[in-house]
Amino acid sequence: MGDQFITDMVSKIGGYLMDLTINELRPVFQFKSIVEDLKHKSDNLCSKQRTIQDKICRAKQNSEAINDDVRKWVSDVEDILKRVQNLEEKLRPNKRWLCGQCPNMIWRYHLGKDAMKEMAAIKMLQQEGDFGQVSHHTIVDVNIPSQETLFESTESAFDQIMEALKSDDCNMVGLYGIGGVGKTTLAQEVRARATELKLFDNIVMVVVSQNPNFSAIQDEIAERLGLKIEEKVKEARASRLSSRLKQEKKILIILDDVWGDLDLANDIGIPHGDDHKGCKILLTTRRLHVCKSMGSKKNIELAALKYEDARALFEKSADLTDKSPELNEIVKEVVRECKGLPLAIVAVGKALREKTLDEYKRALNQLKDARLDEIEDVDKEVYKSLMLSYDYLKSKQTKSCFLL
Ligand SMILES: Nc1ncnc2c1ncn2[C@@H]1O[C@H](COP(=O)(O)OP(=O)(O)OP(=O)(O)O)[C@@H](O)[C@H]1O
Ligand SMILES: [Mg+2]
Repeated sequence: MGDQFITDMVSKIGGYLMDLTINELRPVFQFKSIVEDLKHKSDNLCSKQRTIQDKICRAKQNSEAINDDVRKWVSDVEDILKRVQNLEEKLRPNKRWLCGQCPNMIWRYHLGKDAMKEMAAIKMLQQEGDFGQVSHHTIVDVNIPSQETLFESTESAFDQIMEALKSDDCNMVGLYGIGGVGKTTLAQEVRARATELKLFDNIVMVVVSQNPNFSAIQDEIAERLGLKIEEKVKEARASRLSSRLKQEKKILIILDDVWGDLDLANDIGIPHGDDHKGCKILLTTRRLHVCKSMGSKKNIELAALKYEDARALFEKSADLTDKSPELNEIVKEVVRECKGLPLAIVAVGKALREKTLDEYKRALNQLKDARLDEIEDVDKEVYKSLMLSYDYLKSKQTKSCFLL
């Protein structure tokens, strides 16, 4: 039993040593085939490198970013091909060789071993180089700086929104106010400040409007995230966007101009609340009940501008330099007729640029006389002001811009 064990052991060790010796001596006895093999394998790697380089070129032309693993692979391949080239220089047959082989066995042993090592590395790189994709869409950085549109009248709403966005307890904020009061402008200001303060990793602002095109909204959000939604079916599109949004640790989605109750998860694919705590929503709407029906508990009203702010905005829009007391009185009344609505103030101001005192007086009368009582669902003050500026716009082409 003991003898048998020793015999088995000796035979195993012998076999092992034999394998070891054969393997160790391969570089000496199979030198030629090793050199040929190395050449063959490095040629194959070269052609794979060319294919990947072509893909990289095309991706760069499409302004895509090259994946990190691909970059590393390219650099590793360059290194190894350089090393192989150096090795091949040394392995090149010369006159002193006999039958295409170097007679120096020790030399053959060392270089043959180096060649085998490089071949193992080439094999690894060949496998690693099977990339499905070499690149990804980059996020287009829409860095919109602040337009400095804050007034004393709007600062309180702005501060409340910023506070809510910073708070962990609030995942949806509603900003409401009448048409033309400056909700979109304020939301843009919030986006600029939140970007500056790096409150979120990503901020997307999309216009929803009265008749929302959900597919276009999804594409707009997706583009900001570097995602391309290929699906056609509504549910599949929403689910694709939702799973991508869940990867964002802290994202703010600003939904501007919302008119009806939206089903964020199913209509668009926006996971929010308990579904994804990292996703905050700021929505702007003319109607408070829209905020409420969408589940927003923090709702902030944007009120009209106070006289001083309205006057400053008017003077800027009208490029007003004439400080005569008579004009000053008319301007005061014109500004009051605009009822603190930035849309009206800017429109009337621009329409009255470089106008005479008489033209100012006529404009004031028109603003006072405008009979809008019969028109439904139109913000009367805005309409009145727009009609005035419309009358003052002389060219037909400019007028057509106002025919909404
Ligand atoms: N703070 C501001 N400073 C300068 N101009 C402003 C400001 N707020 C608004 N405006 C002007 O008024 C116009 C209307 O503002 P905005 O579009 O923000 O209103 P809104 O409340 O979003 O209106 P709507 O309900 O129709 O969407 C803007 O195009 C801009 O010219
Ligand atoms: Mg708006």
